[in-house]
Amino acid sequence: MTTDGVPERTGNNLDPWYANYAERASGLSASEVRALFAVASRPEVVSLAGGMPFVSALPQELIVSSMEKVMREQGPTALQYGSGQGIPELREQILDVMALEGIHGSVDNVVTSTGSQQALDLVTKLFIDPGDVILAEAPSYVGAIGVFRSYQANVVHVAMDDQGLIPEALRQTIAHLRGQGRRIKFLYTIPNFHNPAGVTLAAERRPEIIEICRQNEILILEDNPYGLLHFDEPAPDALRALDPEGVVYLGSFSKTLAPGFRVGWALAPHAVREKLILAAESAILSPSSFSQMVVSEYLATADWREQIDRFRGVYRERKDVMVEALGEHLPQLSWTNPNGGFYVWVTMPEMLDSKQMLPRAVKELVAYTPGTAFFADGRGRHAMRLSFCYPTTDQIRVGIRRLATVVNGELDLLDTFAGTGPLSLPPSPDFDSAPPSDLK
Ligand SMILES: Cc1ncc(COP(=O)(O)O)c(C=O)c1O
Repeated sequence: MTTDGVPERTGNNLDPWYANYAERASGLSASEVRALFAVASRPEVVSLAGGMPFVSALPQELIVSSMEKVMREQGPTALQYGSGQGIPELREQILDVMALEGIHGSVDNVVTSTGSQQALDLVTKLFIDPGDVILAEAPSYVGAIGVFRSYQANVVHVAMDDQGLIPEALRQTIAHLRGQGRRIKFLYTIPNFHNPAGVTLAAERRPEIIEICRQNEILILEDNPYGLLHFDEPAPDALRALDPEGVVYLGSFSKTLAPGFRVGWALAPHAVREKLILAAESAILSPSSFSQMVVSEYLATADWREQIDRFRGVYRERKDVMVEALGEHLPQLSWTNPNGGFYVWVTMPEMLDSKQMLPRAVKELVAYTPGTAFFADGRGRHAMRLSFCYPTTDQIRVGIRRLATVVNGELDLLDTFAGTGPLSLPPSPDFDSAPPSDLK
């Protein structure tokens, strides 16, 4: 106390409120992706780091006319607060979008959100008490790990391979955690064109994973923003299509239309949906009426399926160029070859550290996301995520050439100074899926 009875602040020089934050705020830290955006957005840097969709491929005129029509015909409604659950017309259209992935739900159970990121936050808020366990693939989406941390969850990674999450690993992880008396709240999974791993959960594994979760009374949180962006074979039916009661499904218009609208959605079992609406109302009152109405108008007037086809064509070409350039310039590494989505996961020899290497890469004018961003437990050092969604094919070629200069420079250094002898190279893409220390 000071002499006038006012409590003394115990902050530090940078932040006088340091001592006053809630404990959960300690889970909030700038992700590697976020810290990178400032540097990587310099025009001379080829950024293979972010996950920005190539929105220039959209029919701009049609979007402008959708906005204009909404404002001219329904301006006062578009500018007003709306329902916490989202506008019914759009929720109906969302059913059509989901039907493409085998999902048949009721419009009552769709809740629109401010991007699927907000739905992720709300579901976590509803289910997680500090210390609860969330199961997630190894690696997993950096933005989800951030949300889970902010609610003080313990994220336990489950091994995956080039066919996605491994059912046996899931079974063993659950048994091990249960043996320790830990409370598992849900399995967070990105079955299609995974961010960051680029792999897709095999069709034959899907019923098995659902069955394991059902037997163990573990909810599945299925995050599927990339599902319609396949290059060859469409993705297998969504987990939600196989188990309507055991899955909360998250979808988004960010990758198939544009993230600037910030429109995503959740399709939840009826009881969960009720709570989700209450949580949404308490967080934001209602999602943007204007954005939802413009997206709805776009879906009603544009040939959106054909537009998604065009996106597929662009992304496919870029992915092919990236994979070809990796083969040409970095044959000593291994990588996934995705059948959709935005990302390639690259594995380097174990002695290389993608986080430490990043400043050197940025100096060479190329940026990527270090693998550590995608693990809650510090793994992923010898891996990186490369995005092919935004840069042009020429930029991708230049970027991979620059990356090769950096990686080869590091390997030369190690070879020269460490006297390591022949380097041990990864035989195939490796998701660093050795169990975390607390599971050993
Ligand atoms: C797997 C995954 N989930 C959720 C999101 C968030 O998307 P939205 O823009 O719908 O909030 C992203 C964005 O990159 C993502 O990759």
